[in-house]
Amino acid sequence: MNDPRQPTLLELSDPARRIVLRLGFGGAFAALMGAQAGCAQAPVASGAAAGARTLGFASVPPSRADRIIVPPGYVAEVLAPWGEPVGIPGAMPAWRDDAGNSADEQALQMGMHHDGMQFYPFDGSSTHGLLALNHEYTDDGLLHPDGLVPWTAQKVRKAQMAVGLAVIEVRLQDGRWQHVRPSRYARRTTMDTPFAVAGPAAGHPLLCTAADPRGRRILGTVANCASGRTPWGTYLAGEENFHFLFSGGDTPTADQRRWGIARGAWYRWGEHDARFDATRNPNEFHRFGWVVELDPFDPQSTPVKRTALGRACHEGATVALTRDGRAVVYSGEDRHFEYLYKFVSRDRMQPGGARANASLLDHGTLYAARFDADGRGHWLPLVHGLGPLTAANGFADQGEVLVKTRQACDLLGATRMDRPEWLAIDPRSGHIYCTLTNNLRRGLPGQPPTDAANPRARNSMGHIIRWHEDGDFDAPMLHWDHFVLAGDPEQSRAQARGNVRGDAFACPDGLAFDPYGRLWICTDIGPRDLGQGEMARLGNNQLLAADPDSGEVRRFLTGPVGCEITGPCFTPDVRTLFVNVQHPGEAPGERNDPADPRRYSNWPDQRPQGRPRSAVVVVRRVDGGVIGA
Ligand code: FEO
Ligand code: CA
Ligand code: CA
Ligand code: CA
Repeated sequence: MNDPRQPTLLELSDPARRIVLRLGFGGAFAALMGAQAGCAQAPVASGAAAGARTLGFASVPPSRADRIIVPPGYVAEVLAPWGEPVGIPGAMPAWRDDAGNSADEQALQMGMHHDGMQFYPFDGSSTHGLLALNHEYTDDGLLHPDGLVPWTAQKVRKAQMAVGLAVIEVRLQDGRWQHVRPSRYARRTTMDTPFAVAGPAAGHPLLCTAADPRGRRILGTVANCASGRTPWGTYLAGEENFHFLFSGGDTPTADQRRWGIARGAWYRWGEHDARFDATRNPNEFHRFGWVVELDPFDPQSTPVKRTALGRACHEGATVALTRDGRAVVYSGEDRHFEYLYKFVSRDRMQPGGARANASLLDHGTLYAARFDADGRGHWLPLVHGLGPLTAANGFADQGEVLVKTRQACDLLGATRMDRPEWLAIDPRSGHIYCTLTNNLRRGLPGQPPTDAANPRARNSMGHIIRWHEDGDFDAPMLHWDHFVLAGDPEQSRAQARGNVRGDAFACPDGLAFDPYGRLWICTDIGPRDLGQGEMARLGNNQLLAADPDSGEVRRFLTGPVGCEITGPCFTPDVRTLFVNVQHPGEAPGERNDPADPRRYSNWPDQRPQGRPRSAVVVVRRVDGGVIGA
């Protein structure tokens, strides 16, 4: 990303916040990071910050302890666990440690399994703002006092109230971050919350159901994994593994097979809610798999499913701006052998925040990535009528291309990746980084072989790919390389040795750059593999920081037993890190059994028979300094 950039100034004003964006050399990134950190101007690419992304903390060793461990000189505190009231005025039911809260109470409390998260400061503040976050899924063995047996309509309803999005107000007071309650900003979305549908697939026949014959109003968002922050101040969340919610029949259609809908469903919602029985409501599953957009500052606003970004098991959505102010949204699809996407908006971002940009993501072009062996890559447009995307091949119109993005990518020859998770953009170089968490099926008989971008058979450890666009973010071509092949160089299979410099890790998932340009990497080793085999020396899941210039990786935080670490985000001054501990105590089978007296984790409450709870965690330096420096 070497082209000189002419300075431009875009000033956005909004009743709740004010963001000034400077676009110039490195400025699109500075602007983006400034907006992402919520500050007027991010401390990047300037003299004072030059060289400041080196790592200045002592790495922590791998741990199997049931607690959070951070480097000397740092403290970590729990801020907002599952079940605490979010803070809606007059509606703050207290948490019950036996999971005895009703579905209606759960709808007013923090949901389960915190994941992607972003910080939205008030007026650039580093001590007061909003956190928007995802509650990805439920462990029904923990959510109900008696687990899954018997499986009832009431349990389905409580699960539907425990997923979705949350917005909470947080403030640094007397040296500690507080969850401000009540708050007029506090919000939860549940499976009862109406979402509008916008973009080319809105109203498409494939989205119409008996309950919504116009195909423009969908109740709920679900399986929200990673998240993104737009420069116009909104929150983006991907709908990831939505197919696990839908039960199908014995003879699935080709479309249902391509998306993994078959008999039975992990979440069993369809047994008591016909919406999620694909044999009775075959179009309902087309209404999930979208990127959703929410204005965290307006709790009355209707969030929107943005169909122009395509339907996929979207991990998340990461936003850049072109020099002339168009939005570019990167997103990966975290399934084995699925694809990487970017969307380029037709229009430019306008001053005026969320309301002025309410349709920015509804018009534009969606592309899928093809990574070639020579280190170059191409963005392949998913446009109806172009190439094979015609009626003769099963795509009646652009709406159908967007509903069936996987099938469209199959025809275009996009690269089948090793489970793309989060994406992050280096504020200095403009390189785009993407975690590829693992893919044990790569190279197995009948499965796709290795390729240049996904070079390891039975890729148990994962890797991080990076590229820069050949020009601006909307460029049709790119150059790529691997930032790191993860794994323990001492312990991994010989054919799969990693090239990590510094602390070893596996299964990268969450990813974020801080405004200084340090790359923060979260890990998600599955519960069956934690502490086992080639993962034995890596300990619990963790957060690491990397210096993209030297390639050094240093372990910063280790989480409690059975958890995944996710959702890292910073205050504008980078003196507070918010991070999520997801599913502490997850059982090897990924569901707890309340009849089993063992608890794999008691974090964070540490009560012997209490339930482990996902939670927002705050990390600060004792001396108040910059995190990671
Ligand atoms: Fe929800 Fe791909 O992790
Ligand atoms: Ca993830
Ligand atoms: Ca993961
Ligand atoms: Ca997880």
